[in-house]
Amino acid sequence: MDNAEIMEKSSIDVENIRADFPVLSKQIGGKPFIYLDNGATTQKPQAVIDRVSQFDSEEYGTVRRGSYRLCERSTQLYEEARQKVADFLGAPTKQEIVFTSGTTQSINLVAHSFGRKFVNAGDEVIISNIEHHANTVPWQVLCEEKGAKLKVIPVNDDGELIMEEYDRLLTDKTRIVAVNHVSNVLGTINPVKEITVKAHKAGAKVLIDGAQSMPHMKVDVQDIGCDFYTFSGHKMYAPSGIGGMFGRMEVMETMSPYVTGGDMILQVTLEKTIFAKPPARFEAGTPPITQVIGLGAAIDYLNAIGMDKIFEYEKSLLDYGTRLLQGIDGLRIIGNAADKAAILSIYLESAHPHDIITMLDQDGIALRGGHHCAQPTMIRFGVPATARASMAFYNKFEELDALAESLRKIIKFFS
Ligand code: ALA
Repeated sequence: MDNAEIMEKSSIDVENIRADFPVLSKQIGGKPFIYLDNGATTQKPQAVIDRVSQFDSEEYGTVRRGSYRLCERSTQLYEEARQKVADFLGAPTKQEIVFTSGTTQSINLVAHSFGRKFVNAGDEVIISNIEHHANTVPWQVLCEEKGAKLKVIPVNDDGELIMEEYDRLLTDKTRIVAVNHVSNVLGTINPVKEITVKAHKAGAKVLIDGAQSMPHMKVDVQDIGCDFYTFSGHKMYAPSGIGGMFGRMEVMETMSPYVTGGDMILQVTLEKTIFAKPPARFEAGTPPITQVIGLGAAIDYLNAIGMDKIFEYEKSLLDYGTRLLQGIDGLRIIGNAADKAAILSIYLESAHPHDIITMLDQDGIALRGGHHCAQPTMIRFGVPATARASMAFYNKFEELDALAESLRKIIKFFS
C-alpha cells in the first residue's frame, strides 16, 4: 500500500475527533499546533474536562469515609470507575484493580510488596534492555538490597526482544519477570503472552508495564495471563496523578502493604493492625477522587471510539510516517520491530535531539527529545538521545507531512 492508499483506508473521522480536544485547535507562534508527544502525556477531550468539572462543582465528596449522601454518591462513582478499568482490561473482578498515582508507583508497589517478601538472596529478577527507568530502577534497588540477581533480556538491532535469550535467562530461581508491553522509545510491541506463559512454567510471576499500550490497543489481562498490569491515566486522556494496576487477587492477597495509614485496615488497636483485603490494602489515605472520576470518563470516551479502531488508525499513521521518514537522507529511525506501536524515534547524524525539538517547536511541532527515561536503551543503540514522535488517534497524516518537511529543513540548516 502506498501513502495515498493508507490515507484512503483511514478508519477514523479524525476531524470530528479533533473537535473534541480543545487544545488541538491552538496556534503556536502563528502556526497550527502539532502535538506528537503522546508517549509522554496525552491531551484531554472535552468530555473528560466537563466530567471532572461537573464532579467538582456538584458531586465532590470524600469516599468510603461517611454515610451522608454526597459521600455515598462519590464512593459509588469511584467504585464505578474501578469497574470501568476492570472491564477495559478484561480483569475478572474490580477488586483486582488498585488505584495508584501511575505506572511508576504501581511498579514500586509490586517491587516493595511482592519483591521484598518473595525475592531473597540468590533469587533472580528478569527485565529487558528496553524498559523505562520506572521498570528498571525499582528492581535494581530490590536486587541490591536482597543480594538477588537482575538479569536482562537483550534486543536485536530492530529493537525486538531476543526470545531464545529469554529462554536461557529463565531458571527456577526467577521470582518475577517485569517487561513493558510497548517500549516507550522504540514502539516495539513485546510478546507478553509468550513471556508470561514461559515465566509461569518456570514458577515466576509476571508484571507487564502497560503505560504505552493500554491507551493504544485492546488489552485483555486474562488472555495475557499476567499477574500485574500497570498503567498511567495521563497517557490515556485522563487527568494526571491517577493510574493503577491490575493485580491477580490470589497474588495480591499474599502481599504486605506498601503505604500504611487510613482506610487500608480492617482493625487497629495500639498493639496490632489487621490489614484490609486488596484493593483497599494498597490504597492508604484519601485517594485522588476527582482524577479517578476523570479516568472513568476517559475510558468511556475511548470505548465510544473503540480500541480496535484506534489501534488500526494509529498503525496507519505509523506506516505513513515511517515511509515518509525513511525517504529523508541523514535520518535514522531507531527501532524497527515487525510488531510496532505508533512511535518513531528519530536520530539525525547532523543535529542533537535537543536542537531538533527546539527547532521543531518553531514550526509548532511538539516532540520529546532526550533519553526518554530509558538510558539503557540509548546505550544499546549507541545514541545519546533521540527525538521521538509518539502518535495518538487525533493525529493527522498531514501533521506527519509537516514533521517530515520541518526535519528536512533542520537537516539542511545543519549541513
Ligand atoms: N514515560 C514517559 C515518556 O516516555 C514520560 O515520555
